[in-house]
Amino acid sequence: SRILEALKWKTSPNNFMPTLLSNHITIGKEKNGTNIEFHLSRTSLKKVLSTSFSDKEVNMSEVKNVVADDIICDVHEEVTKRDVSIVFQINRNMFIKEVLQDITCDTVMWRKTLAQNLLPQSKENKVVIEYSSPNIAKPFHMGHLRSTIIGNFIANLLEFLSHKVVRLNYLGDWGTQFGLLQVGLEMCGYSETLIKQNPMQLLYKAYVEANKKAETDSSISAKAREAFHCLEEGNTENMEKWKLFRYYTEQELRHVYQRLGICFDEYKWESEYSAKDIGSILHSLEARGILKTESDGRQVVEINQQWRVPIMKSDGSTLYLTRDIAAALDRYDHHKFTEMLYVVDNAQTDHFTALFGILSNMQLPWAASLKHVKFGRIRGMSTRKGSVVFLTDILDEVRDIMAKKQQESRTTKVFLDKNEKTTDILGTSAVIINDLKQRRQRDYEFDWNRALQVQGDTGVKLQYTHCRLWNLEKNCGTSLPLECDPSVLQEPEAIFLIKDIARFNEVIMKSYEELEACVLVNYLFRFCNLINRAFDILQVKNEDVYVGSQRLLLFHASRIVLNQGMKILGLQPLHQM
Ligand code: ARG
Repeated sequence: SRILEALKWKTSPNNFMPTLLSNHITIGKEKNGTNIEFHLSRTSLKKVLSTSFSDKEVNMSEVKNVVADDIICDVHEEVTKRDVSIVFQINRNMFIKEVLQDITCDTVMWRKTLAQNLLPQSKENKVVIEYSSPNIAKPFHMGHLRSTIIGNFIANLLEFLSHKVVRLNYLGDWGTQFGLLQVGLEMCGYSETLIKQNPMQLLYKAYVEANKKAETDSSISAKAREAFHCLEEGNTENMEKWKLFRYYTEQELRHVYQRLGICFDEYKWESEYSAKDIGSILHSLEARGILKTESDGRQVVEINQQWRVPIMKSDGSTLYLTRDIAAALDRYDHHKFTEMLYVVDNAQTDHFTALFGILSNMQLPWAASLKHVKFGRIRGMSTRKGSVVFLTDILDEVRDIMAKKQQESRTTKVFLDKNEKTTDILGTSAVIINDLKQRRQRDYEFDWNRALQVQGDTGVKLQYTHCRLWNLEKNCGTSLPLECDPSVLQEPEAIFLIKDIARFNEVIMKSYEELEACVLVNYLFRFCNLINRAFDILQVKNEDVYVGSQRLLLFHASRIVLNQGMKILGLQPLHQM
């Protein structure tokens, strides 16, 4: 039947559950103590049908036919406010067995099937994701931190769903401010040893001082312009010096990324695009009649009748936007992506609208596959030292606070691990989750206390629950059963947990559709609560061995799901804390 085919509904007992619980089907209430209800909305079914068939009308008797297998009883329609749902019931024990066995039998397979079932039409998807993208000489500010954390999450999620992902960091190292930087460095008594020690802070200091001096001394700006001009002309001495800044900055950045558990496939410098292909870009715009020269000599592109954006300065040098055009062309050339995401804050919305507008005016077919993934601002994040924030300082501070908490807290003592690396991971987990639990586009206020709580909804709680499960598995002295026996997993705490495990698919799919980490984060918070509740009630150790081993299976499956969810969010799951 076409419905069967469209839903990829495999009725073999080992196989129907992951598909059944794809994003189209949601879990409902329990019925009569032995069954669980499932809802499949008519809209979803139509959507699924329309991807495979031209006719997408849903016929109830057809649905009944499909599901009239031994698994399902009673199929009916239910009208809710938003939609008509097809409701059917599945035997609860069957459900329990399917869920637990699927995950624990072969975890790699579980992951694969899940991805395939969630995105069955999987054509070759290659996604370039640009994130982090700080500037040298300016501190790695909170906007860059958000971009880094959110971008990494999206990259992990897409990879989990079997996309090919290219992680790209586009570092800002071009523009007149770099002339000012050179002047500042001379004022600070630049030397290679000095810059090696702490490149980002030195560069920042030089930049700030030059800016300050420029306010009272007009010769500074002229000097800065001169210095940048030298760079543009490729003056070797300036160029060498400046390559060195870049080199050390990149080293330091790599170090910070490593602390956060983040890596990139490519580091690209904005300056690489300051001259590259500019001629042919201008040519192409001219040929389409959208390049205009203003009376002051600047060249602008007419995106539409009301909107003209400058893309060349009167002295013939490029702008941020121009370099982004060149960079996009280069990326398509290299990767032939099916999609490219720019994870950059809300403030640059106009810039990206202009960029996408120009590329589509250039009639590049792939221009439609570019997307600006925006996010809001963080307010109030500063360290005790002051208001200018370097990421390393934040991470150090979080680590120190965490170390103190580890000493104080009785709950965490069970897994006490004073290793500095562990403390660091705990701290970064707190920072990451504090960010990802917010809706992407909302501005939010940073609160140290809230971010670092063990009991509240924080990254520490996820780590704590993971450690708890890990230590149970390791120390309970029971081994996993060969087969799941649902008859001894009937406590409400067990059933709640199993239903929640089964919701993982739906949650992943929703995060993917909205590119919102908070969907997954909130699910994991709730999931951890259920795990911790079950943990206190469903004993494994001091229990009949048979029952204990079945419960162990339940906790084992829970840990795999939690572990997977944490990894997608960019956390490194701990065993001790
Ligand atoms: N370096 C820029 C900044 O810090 C962000 C770059 C965003 N990406 C881009 N392709 N324009 O503001």
